[in-house]
Amino acid sequence: MTNIVELENVSYYYDKEKVILKDLSLAFEVSKYYGIYGANGTGKSTIAKLMTGLLFPKKGKVLFKGERIKKDNLSLIRKQIGIVFQNPDNQFVGATVEEDIAFGLENRQVSSQEMHRIVSEYAEIMQITDLLKKDPEALSGGQKQKCAICGILALTPAVLILDEATSMLDPSSKKEFKKSLGEIRKKYPLMSIISITHEIEDMSDFDEIILLDEGNIVFQGGIKDVLNNIDAFKKSGIHLPIVIELAKELNIQAINKTELIDQLCLLNLKK
Ligand SMILES: Nc1ncnc2c1ncn2[C@@H]1O[C@H](COP(=O)(O)OP(=O)(O)OP(=O)(O)O)[C@@H](O)[C@H]1O
Ligand SMILES: [Mg+2]
Repeated sequence: MTNIVELENVSYYYDKEKVILKDLSLAFEVSKYYGIYGANGTGKSTIAKLMTGLLFPKKGKVLFKGERIKKDNLSLIRKQIGIVFQNPDNQFVGATVEEDIAFGLENRQVSSQEMHRIVSEYAEIMQITDLLKKDPEALSGGQKQKCAICGILALTPAVLILDEATSMLDPSSKKEFKKSLGEIRKKYPLMSIISITHEIEDMSDFDEIILLDEGNIVFQGGIKDVLNNIDAFKKSGIHLPIVIELAKELNIQAINKTELIDQLCLLNLKK
């Protein structure tokens, strides 16, 4: 599989006295859906900023499609990377949501007819059609966030980085967002998605889960591997979904409620 973004022996500090990342190597493959977990302050957002050229490594390099991200190729590479942060403020430039989403497309010299079609299409996928004529400033935090994500998706980046981007959404909006993301993934199967999240219940959605602890990768693998590495999560202060804990306790293989119930039935425990 080809890598879309790679960190090669990357070290980073804001303050020389406190190194945040030391010699970190990490590769993200094309079309995979990643979940990055880790306690507060462990370096997740720093990694996201290094991957988008908002920060540059003190040592080592960051590659996009095999090319080192440098100041002189940054603007070209940025067009292919979409990032949405936790705080939706300062992510808007348009007077209406529609204008805001269109703004990114305008920069790509998309015709106005095509622009209108794309904005409507993505607004429908993200279920924000009713917000298109509104002033972004007049929206709630969660609505702003949905619009910000829509604006990024409309640009069809090769890699989408969500840095706790859905933490403001209410449970039903989170569910809708998952559905939207599913549609997007079907539409653009080559897009890689990297989700930095504290939502442990989402763990089974990811193709690959990465656990960071003080800037180091202490676990990397699929949901099934999590079952055999519960201690790494515990040590990092991450409480796993109850289904996983219970499955481990009962010494069975289950990663979600349905599987757990099936396994319990097999064990003849469910009456
Ligand atoms: N601009 C900055 N200047 C100085 N230190 C910073 C800066 N940004 C982050 N840090 C420090 O770097 C460390 C890693 O921060 P980072 O934001 O990458 O953590 P995180 O894993 O994203 O945490 P969270 O889950 O809280 O978002 C923290 O100790 C933080 O205090
Ligand atoms: Mg962060």
